[in-house]
Amino acid sequence: MAVVTQSRLWRGVIEEYRDRLPVTAATPVVTLREGGTPLVPAPWLSEQTSCEVYLKVEGVNPTGSFKDRGMTVAISKAAEEGAEAVVCASTGNTSASAAAYAVRAGMRPVVLLPDGKISGPKLAQAVVHGGVIASVQGNFDDCLRLARELAETYPVALVNSVNPYRLAGQKTAAFEVVDDLGDAPDLHVLPVGNAGNISAYWLGYSEYTAYAADNPGPAKRRPRMWGFQAAGAAPFVHGGPVSAPETVASAIRIGNPASWDLAIAARDDSGGLIDAVTDEQILAAQQELSGREGLFVEPASAAGVAGLLHYSRTGRLDAGQRIVVTVTGHGLKDVDTASAYYGEIRPYVVPAQADAAAKALGLA
Ligand code: F0G
Repeated sequence: MAVVTQSRLWRGVIEEYRDRLPVTAATPVVTLREGGTPLVPAPWLSEQTSCEVYLKVEGVNPTGSFKDRGMTVAISKAAEEGAEAVVCASTGNTSASAAAYAVRAGMRPVVLLPDGKISGPKLAQAVVHGGVIASVQGNFDDCLRLARELAETYPVALVNSVNPYRLAGQKTAAFEVVDDLGDAPDLHVLPVGNAGNISAYWLGYSEYTAYAADNPGPAKRRPRMWGFQAAGAAPFVHGGPVSAPETVASAIRIGNPASWDLAIAARDDSGGLIDAVTDEQILAAQQELSGREGLFVEPASAAGVAGLLHYSRTGRLDAGQRIVVTVTGHGLKDVDTASAYYGEIRPYVVPAQADAAAKALGLA
């Protein structure tokens, strides 16, 4: 099939940033035209914080989360290396993405999921993309250990973010922010789970700044990085692994993050922080995003916004800053948690007749 590449539409992160990614002419590009996501001004958050706040809306990627950025690179490289199967551990989004990209490349996706801890829609994504699904009796950290062991011994490529091609793809989100704003923001805020994304953003901002004298980039500076974990799954806040992580934000229910050192470096080199927010703060932020900004994100995705609001309300956020908050995954990824927060839905039952309906709905 002839593929049109002259399109003025977004071509996916590999073609858009080819010169900054570990691909060559020999790399078969496996893409769903991920990336190119909107940087949406957030007027309510801006007013609340006396800052200029933007949301990087990653839920509009093809499988509904930021994972597609890394997966296009990881799967393209696996295809180049002749892999016939890929494996990943996941809290649901990585597996959805791995399954979609793997089948597109004609590979078998094997996904290891913590038993009973994946939201229904994410599990459905693995199913519809033909994933070979293992329900592992353990948590995400057990799944990741198992995935590493399988990839060491058996003919299957590991596509978790310990695979450096994943972070290479994910760093393109930082490029896009700079391309949109003309420079890096003062502060970049995002949720932290396995800690790949905070590491990837820092990598992206660093590569895109002129501080690399031999390869000057479009950014003049780098932001401070603020990461937020869920209080029941906050190993960075405790300073070591958490053995039984627990949070309503199932995507970041992780006790032993793989990218520990890279995330600490992102935090410290940027003069930033990694802190925790409670489940209540996460769900409240998710609701504020839906009800005020018009953006429905999954619970884990709201952790950055929850942290920003918490710091602002406790007087620890300087006014006047330009801030980007990444919202990592779509709200439709976990409808049960969102619905439960709102309680029973009681619509107005109205006749199909305008006058009566208007009266019942308070329009008349
Ligand atoms: N937000 C969402 C929606 C996620 O799915 C994840 C991670 C994160 C934030 C945290 O990103 O791990 O790079 O720090 N989800 C992984 C998964 C673990 O399996 O889908 P991180």
